[in-house]
Amino acid sequence: MNPREANFYVDDRVSEGVFRVHRDVFSDPEIFELEMKYIFERTWVYLALENQIPKPNDFVTAWIGRNPILVTRTPAGKIAAHLNICPHKGVQLCPVEQGSTKFHVCPYHGWAFDASGKNVDIKDAKAANYPAAFNAISHDLMPIARLASYKGMIFGSLSPDVPELETFLGDMKTFIDLAMDQGPHGMEIVPGRATYTYRGNWKMQMDNAMDQYHLTSTHVSFMDVQAKRRSGSGNTEARQFDWDKRLSQEGGMFSFPYGHTCLWLNQPEVEKRPIYPVLDEVRSRVGDTRAQWMLKGRNSLFFPNMQIADSTTLNVRTFRPIAANLTEMRVHCIAPIGESPERRTWRLRQFEDFFNPTGLATPDDTACFEAMQRGYAARPYEYLQGYYRGMEIVQQGPDATARELGVNPATSLRAPFDSNCETSMHAAYREWSRLMGAGFAGKKAFE
Ligand code: FES
Ligand SMILES: [Fe+2]
Repeated sequence: MNPREANFYVDDRVSEGVFRVHRDVFSDPEIFELEMKYIFERTWVYLALENQIPKPNDFVTAWIGRNPILVTRTPAGKIAAHLNICPHKGVQLCPVEQGSTKFHVCPYHGWAFDASGKNVDIKDAKAANYPAAFNAISHDLMPIARLASYKGMIFGSLSPDVPELETFLGDMKTFIDLAMDQGPHGMEIVPGRATYTYRGNWKMQMDNAMDQYHLTSTHVSFMDVQAKRRSGSGNTEARQFDWDKRLSQEGGMFSFPYGHTCLWLNQPEVEKRPIYPVLDEVRSRVGDTRAQWMLKGRNSLFFPNMQIADSTTLNVRTFRPIAANLTEMRVHCIAPIGESPERRTWRLRQFEDFFNPTGLATPDDTACFEAMQRGYAARPYEYLQGYYRGMEIVQQGPDATARELGVNPATSLRAPFDSNCETSMHAAYREWSRLMGAGFAGKKAFE
């Protein structure tokens, strides 16, 4: 391939009022291959929550791009992450999402590995007549290059050449805090998850959580159902929101280095948030400002593969690119450890309503993604026009809202909900372009 300059794909000329993304970014299989190499395999990627693997030998599987990863709690209680690939003939070793086992045994020829990735058995090794050169090489699972956690969220990198995780996250740590500090005893994944694939590019989901503009057209039926339920019929446990009240609220966005962004919205019906009844306790731990921020709607994107969404209910969404036109989603509802059954039920009903693949909102989004993917096969259009809203009011650096929260974003914007800014997607494409450009030029991703 002879790729064009990265700035051909992301035409970032904000001083001239232009921010355009080329449609090939979503549909070209060669671009997809390069994204795996230059983005997913060269930066930090979210893997799992630490408390998915609380005890020795617990494991959870994850992905870094197309690389299957096995995240384990070792017998010594440490967190480890290895390529989930048997070194013998390359079989994906552990086929399930989560569990606990002392030994991972390969289904093909039976090699076995312990929870620290060590090869503990090569079947029939004595009769194998292996040459000395074979005995001299490691048969253990391959550890990933970097592994680190922040507030119980585990990130990994296949490349050693990445900044420290805390540097990579920067002030986005605050938005992890706003999710992970909601419970006095920490946060946990509510058992189960929603998972589904859609026939569209991974960046459609990346954009979608930063896209308020679609709400009043894509999710009309969800809003209508909620309006009916507020009259007292049907699912009342979910404390149905009144979306009309939200549409007049103030909101905004902050963007940060390395492609991360948070979109926020003042929420009028704070009493419908499951942490509302325990807000005094929360306030006593995190202070008034942060407690108030926990009630706001927040959609945070941690480039390239994870979102913490807390606008209808708190959840972590990861997207796994499989092909240019195929993506797998996993959505985990997270909740305070030890919260009351009543609040847990309330939270779960809100989660199911919106985020389940059979919910009232997610299928509308995925139907649009698939329609976009079909549209991207068409010519002669080249550039999308979906990144311009709000460009006139973006300010460099922190605004007063950012200062109040104590974060220092690269750009800020504050505007009523119905201005529906699309600048919330710029940082991710800027980072996309930076990483792809470094790759095209044969340079390191991080200097
Ligand atoms: S491929 Fe795993 S033991 Fe052969
Ligand atoms: Fe949506």
